[in-house]
Amino acid sequence: MVFTSIATYHISHQLIVNTGEKPQIRFITTGDGSHSLYHETLHETYHSTHGAMKESMHVFIEAGLRHLPENTNPIHVLEIGFGTGLNAWLTAQDALTISRHVNFTTLEPFPLSDEISANLNYAENSLELQNLLRKIHATTWENDQVIHDHFVLHKSTAKLQEFSSDKKFDLIYYDAFGPPAQPEMWTAPILQKVADLMNDEGILVTYCAKGQVRRDLASAGLFVERLPGPPGKREMLRATKTRH
Ligand SMILES: C[S@@+](CC[C@H](N)C(=O)[O-])C[C@H]1O[C@@H](n2cnc3c(N)ncnc32)[C@H](O)[C@@H]1O
Repeated sequence: MVFTSIATYHISHQLIVNTGEKPQIRFITTGDGSHSLYHETLHETYHSTHGAMKESMHVFIEAGLRHLPENTNPIHVLEIGFGTGLNAWLTAQDALTISRHVNFTTLEPFPLSDEISANLNYAENSLELQNLLRKIHATTWENDQVIHDHFVLHKSTAKLQEFSSDKKFDLIYYDAFGPPAQPEMWTAPILQKVADLMNDEGILVTYCAKGQVRRDLASAGLFVERLPGPPGKREMLRATKTRH
């Protein structure tokens, strides 16, 4: 399923994407002014309505990428749910800031249309960052693409359930839709699968702090921490694969 759009138009703070028969995806402006998307069938947003950019920075960059041991270089990242590319774009920027190489694999079985990705407001104030976001969206799928000296991107339309990899990952961005919308993404076997994809000392970060998810990650052999969440959320989870 690829989300298509025929027309876009503004209604108050929302940019609606008209999909022809009935809207499936609509733009929303979140608490920090950055866009997210609302999936009308799942009744789910792609990010926190309190601030998409703030959530991504807090959960994935600060609690994840910035928390890895300094000697992890290159850093192999696996993201579950490429979506708008916000996490990939922030990571590509941060790879330059921290001066480390990132190989970023991201799974997205339902890529957004070009029309949607071209209208995201993440890089409004910088042509350079707009070009980076554009490049991240425009690169081909199913192969490694050099985005810049410190960032190689591999986008795949594989579902997590079908994904397999010879290599293991230092950092997992677990950014699936939430358990009420997509319970199949939060079962004990799928979380075990993700734990098995991690290197020793590797970490998984997720915005989700549900007790059952925390217990299932612990049962998968990970050391789980509850951390303060991004705006609007009390907690988030970070799970580390400790050496046995
Ligand atoms: C919360 S959104 C991700 C937001 C994204 N990281 C971003 O920065 O915009 C969840 C994403 O997971 C994708 N998804 C749905 N089913 C999936 C599956 N079985 N495996 C991997 N990704 C899946 C959805 O299409 C959606 O884009």
